[in-house]
Amino acid sequence: MALVGLVGWRGMVGSVLMDRMVAERDFDLIEPLFFSTSNAGGAAPAMAKNETRLQDAHDIAALKRCDIIITAQGGDYTTEVFPKLRAAGWKGHWVDAASTLRMKDDAVIILDPVNLPVIENALAQGGRNWVGGNCTVSCMLMGVGALYKAGLVEWMSSMTYQAASGGGAQHMRELLTQFGTLNASVRALLDDPKSAILEIDRQVIDTQRGLSAEATQQFGVPLGGSLIPWIDKDLGAGVSREEWKAGAETNKILGIGEGFGTPAIPVDGFCVRVGAMRCHSQALTFKLKKDVPLADVEALIAQDNDWVKLVPNTREATIRDLTPVAVTGTLGIPVGRVRKLAMGPEYLGAFTIGDQLLWGAAEPLRRMLRILLQ
Ligand code: HSE
Repeated sequence: MALVGLVGWRGMVGSVLMDRMVAERDFDLIEPLFFSTSNAGGAAPAMAKNETRLQDAHDIAALKRCDIIITAQGGDYTTEVFPKLRAAGWKGHWVDAASTLRMKDDAVIILDPVNLPVIENALAQGGRNWVGGNCTVSCMLMGVGALYKAGLVEWMSSMTYQAASGGGAQHMRELLTQFGTLNASVRALLDDPKSAILEIDRQVIDTQRGLSAEATQQFGVPLGGSLIPWIDKDLGAGVSREEWKAGAETNKILGIGEGFGTPAIPVDGFCVRVGAMRCHSQALTFKLKKDVPLADVEALIAQDNDWVKLVPNTREATIRDLTPVAVTGTLGIPVGRVRKLAMGPEYLGAFTIGDQLLWGAAEPLRRMLRILLQ
């Protein structure tokens, strides 16, 4: 049985990954070796079999024992440990949720329902570095990858509505605490049905603007009752790192663009943080290479994979099935609001949502494990 090292299994993404691995009985197929950055020597979790003690996640010799290592420990860990492990001659498969290695030539961004041929090709050539994609990109391609596979996309613009969880667990807590603070600041007025809404509004904005540095420590500014149209680093030229990833990673996942000898498909837009918990939503605009009948577009999307769900473009279906609340905790990727736009018959609009901890983070990792175990 393959010895599979698990690092970062206790964090938010790692916990979702463990839940999914238990649900899919992945542990039946492996001998897990649990690593820890803080509690080496402690007891491994219940999924452990023969290796019942936690290993030191910085112990290269212990890591070298593994046939496969899956890490959700984060980018700093990858930066520190991965080069040492390879330098020590480790030849195993490294499966990583962090972005550190994503754009390296010898790493494949894994999203097998979309790019199994790219993964298989890399495996055949001895590939050993497998990295989960940016959550927004992965969820988007699970929804509308069919249009790319069919060669229909001339360009795409995505306008995102990204959840607090993309920042991390502390960001989710901060958002909820802010909502609580805002509510508490107008509680008496809210309880009085005759109170003036503009007075409530004035007090809310005063509270938001008065939030302490501690109350906005994670996002830097209030998010509850607001939004933040910038995610991740400033790359200069007015582009955020999250926005850059949309184009760079979409093309790399599909195996096109720079490095593959084919022209890249332009993908660009604005990435915005909103007060959702763990689902990233996106409004997409496509310029198609030709005028494809709407019914054909819908059929392509609906038939692409087992998780995509075409939501009829009606008010009733949209507000029922196409919201973060409807999608959270599920592997379903609804795609709705699919319609031709006023700019012309080649212009297509769509809206899609995905749980950024599932398809956006954990699920591609455990599916890569399954591919490696075949
Ligand atoms: N960068 C994403 C976000 C999360 O901040 O929402 C992980 O890809």
